[in-house]
Amino acid sequence: MKTAIIGTGYVGLTTGVALAFLGHEVTCLDVDAHKVEELKKGKSPIYEPHLDDLMKAASQNLRFTVDPVEALKNAEVIFIAVGTPSLPDGNPNLSYLKSAAQSIGHYISSPFVVIVNKSTVPIGSGNWVESLVRDAYRAQNVDKKSEFVVASNPEFLREGSALSDMLYADRVVVGSDETRALDVLRKLYQPLLEQTFEAPSFLPRPEGFRAVHFLTSDLQSAELIKYAANAFLALKISFINEIAELSEKVGADIHHVARGIGLDSRIGNRFLQAGIGWGGSCFGKDTAALISTGKEYGLSMPITQAARDVNARQRARMIEILMNELKILKGRKIGILGLAFKPFTDDLRDAPAYELASKLVERGAKVVGYDPVAMTRAKREWSDLELEYAENAHSVFSEADAVLLVTEWPEFKMLPYSECAKLMKNKFILDGRGQMDKEAMKNAGIKLITLGKSST
Ligand SMILES: NC(=O)c1ccc[n+]([C@@H]2O[C@H](COP(=O)([O-])OP(=O)(O)OC[C@H]3O[C@@H](n4cnc5c(N)ncnc54)[C@H](O)[C@@H]3O)[C@@H](O)[C@H]2O)c1
Repeated sequence: MKTAIIGTGYVGLTTGVALAFLGHEVTCLDVDAHKVEELKKGKSPIYEPHLDDLMKAASQNLRFTVDPVEALKNAEVIFIAVGTPSLPDGNPNLSYLKSAAQSIGHYISSPFVVIVNKSTVPIGSGNWVESLVRDAYRAQNVDKKSEFVVASNPEFLREGSALSDMLYADRVVVGSDETRALDVLRKLYQPLLEQTFEAPSFLPRPEGFRAVHFLTSDLQSAELIKYAANAFLALKISFINEIAELSEKVGADIHHVARGIGLDSRIGNRFLQAGIGWGGSCFGKDTAALISTGKEYGLSMPITQAARDVNARQRARMIEILMNELKILKGRKIGILGLAFKPFTDDLRDAPAYELASKLVERGAKVVGYDPVAMTRAKREWSDLELEYAENAHSVFSEADAVLLVTEWPEFKMLPYSECAKLMKNKFILDGRGQMDKEAMKNAGIKLITLGKSST
């Protein structure tokens, strides 16, 4: 099918590449000319495992442009995947969505077009988009006849494993009040739903994986599913972090506790890793938006609010623990392992490392950070932050008074800690991700404090 994607960020690019790989004719549209130039050369502007490989495999069916006419003319399905970042009041900024909808109204020309909201948008946005498209379409006042329907198709990918999340999804959720739109989207996703495509060698199909659930609903339910899913995941993390704090007090080990409860199939073991808490572009923004929507209807959302409060406390606790340990932060050198909010991505939005580094700098510390893939982006996006960038993980330990483990890259577990210890001024690691091996630290003579465990 002729498909257009508006917004070529983490979601739009992954979606476009995956759909092109499945055999659709995809044109990705973005307002960022530099990004589009890079994409035309086959270079991904984001770090996402296997994205370059899949782009290459799909290149026959994939185009990139800044020209809305080229992208939208003749498109049968148009995905909106623009950003919806938080405004100070918690509501999402819908200005990008608005301008995308207006472009659609100006340029569509196919007889029947399905407009799909993939951006995470407040409940009711589908109707709003429809009215924006309609107004822009009418304003054209030209003799063309396009019918269009708006659908919602929320995205559940996780950065770092976005492509496999897309090709081997748990479910595809599609909401629309018109069966015609649902039918078109079922057809679009058919190779994925039935897993009839040949799996790329670098992203093999998980064993026994045969089909993807296709869930259809009305527009509002699909929009709410996205917020409810993210709020639930966020609160699962905050719940285990609350229990982790109690664990520290009573001398329990949160990792045993999490395993013990996670083996209950009603609970499940995922999203029960205690630590600094969540970051990234979605959980903070989407929980804020959910609370804000509740407020609009006179409804308080205390569980979602508590999840946010606990998450904020986790970051503050890292600083508290560090102050307890070092007493004085002024003039100290603190190393940070991991800058992005999770491993295998260079996405720095709402990364705990930024907040921690800013607070430490504010208190007079010198902060040195390292991340295997996010440093180039950090130098660009965190230019306001007085952060020194280390050449490798090793150098973070040099003369350090403390090292904080902030992002759980597997390679950080494998460092030669006896060597690293020799470089440190004060042999102390604060593990915010429960990754460090207690014995290895003991052998290296490093004092280790892990969130959720009593100190050793
Ligand atoms: N990143 C994730 O993990 C994730 C997961 C699920 C859902 N979402 C949601 O998907 C949406 C997109 O998120 P993202 O992380 O991909 O954002 P992003 O910021 O990485 O990408 C957005 C892109 O849209 C482009 N853009 C903005 N206005 C445009 C316009 N009028 N026309 C063309 N292009 C335009 C920007 O230049 C940018 O490249 C958000 O609503 C987000 O909440 C994100």
